[in-house]
Amino acid sequence: MRKLLLFSLTFCLPLLLSAGGGMWLPLLLENLNEEEMKGMGMKISADDIYHINKGSLKDAIVHFGGFCTGEVISNQGLVLTNHHCGFSAIQSHSSLEDNLLENGFYAKTKGEEKATPGLFVTFIERIEDVTNSVLDGIDEDTSEKERAALVAENIAALKARYRLKDHEDLLVKPFYDGNQYFAFVTKTYNDVRLVGAPPSSIGKYGADTDNWEWPRHTGDFSLFRIYTAPDGSPADYDADNIPMVPKKHLEISLGGVKPGDFSMIFGFPGRTDQYLSAAAMQQRTAIINPIRIGMRDRSLAVIDSAMRADQQIKIDYASKQARIANAWKKWRGESEGVAAVDAIAKRKAMERDFLTRLRAKPGEQERYAPLLPEIDALVEQQEAVASSNAYAAELNYNIDLFRIANILRRQVKIAESNGLEEFKRRLPGIINYLESFYAGYNAEVDKRVAKALLPVYYANVPEEHLSFYVQDQVEFAGSLDRMITDLFERSYLTKGERLLRLLRNDPENALNLLRGDMGYVYVAQLNTHNEREVIDIYNEYQQRAAPLQRQYMKGLLLFFPEKRLYPDANSTMRVSYGKVEGFTGLDGKKFDHITDLDGVIAKYQPGDYEFDLPLKLVKLHQDKDYGRYAMKNGKLPVCFLGSNHTTGGNSGSPALNGQGQLVGLNFDRTWQSTMSDVNYDPTICRNIMVDIRYVLFLIDKLGGAPHLVEEMTLVK
Ligand code: ARG
Ligand code: GLU
Repeated sequence: MRKLLLFSLTFCLPLLLSAGGGMWLPLLLENLNEEEMKGMGMKISADDIYHINKGSLKDAIVHFGGFCTGEVISNQGLVLTNHHCGFSAIQSHSSLEDNLLENGFYAKTKGEEKATPGLFVTFIERIEDVTNSVLDGIDEDTSEKERAALVAENIAALKARYRLKDHEDLLVKPFYDGNQYFAFVTKTYNDVRLVGAPPSSIGKYGADTDNWEWPRHTGDFSLFRIYTAPDGSPADYDADNIPMVPKKHLEISLGGVKPGDFSMIFGFPGRTDQYLSAAAMQQRTAIINPIRIGMRDRSLAVIDSAMRADQQIKIDYASKQARIANAWKKWRGESEGVAAVDAIAKRKAMERDFLTRLRAKPGEQERYAPLLPEIDALVEQQEAVASSNAYAAELNYNIDLFRIANILRRQVKIAESNGLEEFKRRLPGIINYLESFYAGYNAEVDKRVAKALLPVYYANVPEEHLSFYVQDQVEFAGSLDRMITDLFERSYLTKGERLLRLLRNDPENALNLLRGDMGYVYVAQLNTHNEREVIDIYNEYQQRAAPLQRQYMKGLLLFFPEKRLYPDANSTMRVSYGKVEGFTGLDGKKFDHITDLDGVIAKYQPGDYEFDLPLKLVKLHQDKDYGRYAMKNGKLPVCFLGSNHTTGGNSGSPALNGQGQLVGLNFDRTWQSTMSDVNYDPTICRNIMVDIRYVLFLIDKLGGAPHLVEEMTLVK
């Protein structure tokens, strides 16, 4: 009997569990996923997750600032997201005297909540399949040019048919490379106020060393509140606005998680490329990533050593460094992961499968057989420009002189086409930006970054992609090193005070000066050439590849009906699901699904940049003063892992249990998991969440803000 049961269980398993991965559209769950989700332990129904007539979970989820996810956790519009999502808002309210980043902050009353201009949250009212309307009049023989024009026309006509209210919008987005289209009716709220955040030592605990790593001990959360007009409608900031009364807010479970529990992530994943050809995956992970990683190795070496040597530089470069390091480390994980699981060989096998299945469909030969060879040919042809583009992109991203020259170049162009008056009209905004840019600018560090990167650019980018004018400058100076020294010495771009004074006093003269400025001209020439000879050509390849990729995707959907293929992420609302689970690394090392406060304390290094802690937390640990937030074993949970498919944009996403209750907050992935952007592998891909009990403990016990916990709906 037992044997029989075991047999039937293992036999059923592949039917019950998906291959893993997938970011699904909430409105399609009922047809595609509900049965599997229930089989995995979900107790609620697809209707509870997405419904257009009654409040459902989707009504508690927001696109936070357009780059992260947040969720409503009280009936007074309280929103939870990550610390790194709220970072710039927290920073904007910080000063040396009142440093919210450093000390943390909790508003004691609603009156203390801090308006944050520019920050907004967007809800999704409803989602509709609009494929037929968007592709109306288009068939297999429509040319690409005609197709693009028709799609644009149809979308405009569609939009006109929706009666949108103030603050509502209609987003129409392509899915499956343009084989399907969905429309999203959105509602945006512009009065979003900062309510609370832990000190950075907790919200960013482990910083770069622990970023993209497990075991993890970061309390990566912050709190905001949505305000509305007195009648409840969305409104810009106004002192008379009131806390939002939401359609739905999430319940919070204190019940915790255990391995095998059903787990679900709701949010706005930004971008994945799951259906790249093997050749494109190879180019991305073996050619392009290494170029960008190599450039950032060099710039980070300069920045890190400067930050270690000087306290002021450490502050000025904190967010710049985090930005550069985050993608740098992610690309390394992605390339390593793809190599480690042989993802390219697997993708090649799938392509052979595609051809085998195609052979069984004689009528489709002509349309589908040439696709992969054509895609591969384009991938090969684009390699030179793709590489040069990667080198140039890194110059523009890492060297501040390039960054600022590019911003000013855009303004100079506007002045040239729209006149001086328009430039003057925009001036206050430009000055504002420049002031905050130069507040954290260090010309010496920047020069060292330039000296670390430019030689690599010149050594690796082919002659025809390099501007003669720029090369002449180097020749004229006698050496590249000399040229860079001159550039930084002579250019006004490295002298913020003087540039700003000139812009304020005599904008016209400032424009003329810029046009002759050595740094400005150098960057402008380099990029003008790069745009013409590299980027434009690269984009042309991409444009030629798009219809091939669309047709290939159509073929995949057609020939593999038994595989539920999910659409790539495109910053639209999605649900992913899996289980709470640890993993076994590729080297055989086993990792538990959860970490606790003992682990936080074990990493503690007083005074360290990454691993310092507030003394109060150390004391709470000593006293084991965890209140109702402890686990059954008496320890305080901190972070846990799941097999949910996530990517950038899922930061701040709610982690929900089988009842649809909040148990955690998504904020990261483990090291080699980052390959899931091109290849989700269920054996090692894991997302990282903060346990909600740690969040509540930090607000209540460490932060002394129990009133915020009181407005939430806690369940056992
Ligand atoms: N890796 C996470 C993400 O991609 C967290 C990034 C914030 N932390 C940092 N050290 N930069 O956004
Ligand atoms: N930290 C990422 C973000 O900001 C989410 C983690 C990931 O890329 O998986 O969106």
